[in-house]
Amino acid sequence: MIMTGRRSEGQQRQWETTYVQKDFFGSKPSELAESVLPLMLQEKVRDVVELGCGQGRDTWYFARNGLFVTAMDYSEAGICQLRDRANDMNLGNIKGQVHDVRDGLPFQDNSIDAIYSHMLMCMELSDEELQSIMDECFRVLRPGGLKIFSVRNDHDPHYGKFDAAGKDMWRNPMGFVVHFFTKEQIESLAKGWEIVHIKEFEDRSPPFTKKLYEVVLRKPKRTVEAF
Ligand SMILES: C[S@@+](CC[C@H](N)C(=O)[O-])C[C@H]1O[C@@H](n2cnc3c(N)ncnc32)[C@H](O)[C@@H]1O
Repeated sequence: MIMTGRRSEGQQRQWETTYVQKDFFGSKPSELAESVLPLMLQEKVRDVVELGCGQGRDTWYFARNGLFVTAMDYSEAGICQLRDRANDMNLGNIKGQVHDVRDGLPFQDNSIDAIYSHMLMCMELSDEELQSIMDECFRVLRPGGLKIFSVRNDHDPHYGKFDAAGKDMWRNPMGFVVHFFTKEQIESLAKGWEIVHIKEFEDRSPPFTKKLYEVVLRKPKRTVEAF
């Protein structure tokens, strides 16, 4: 069901029509997924929530490597393709769910080992929406749990180009609104989290090479009590 009355209804439609093309970002896992899987295995992550999973190129990769993935996206087309592929590959450890991340996360407090998202946090999300997603991630992650995400950055070829579409956001000629981040903006979003690392990388998937930050945060094992 397409949601109405929301700021980026147009973007949701844009993704629905984009995913008519199978494997829009290619069928291989992303550079981010390959980079962070060893850390997740080392940390004994079992349950991962993937936000903005698209057609599932990273979901299958994690599931094939033994993780239990709940993959969410507001594109029904993306989730249908992900479910079909999971069935074809006989992967029982994938659950696909159509969900808008602005509506909170449907999980209990302190219940998830890791939350992963590649290029979701740099979609058409306002600063307030981003903060509320960060707060929800903090609530549902177990103490010591990991929040792993990527965002397009201020060195990206599309940074500051094309049509302005809000604070730090630009609409590219394909019609996608992208939110770009400096390292300082990520540090500010990460207040209250332990920063494991923030590092730059390139995503070479079609249709062009993008520059991003890989961000790994940890929910502190102990939160400081307010006086
Ligand atoms: C740039 S694509 C990345 C897809 C996937 N992570 C990948 O790398 O192949 C961003 C994805 O976020 C989804 N998305 C954008 N805003 C969303 C929202 N508010 N709630 C859920 N999904 C959203 C889009 O439908 C799209 O699939």
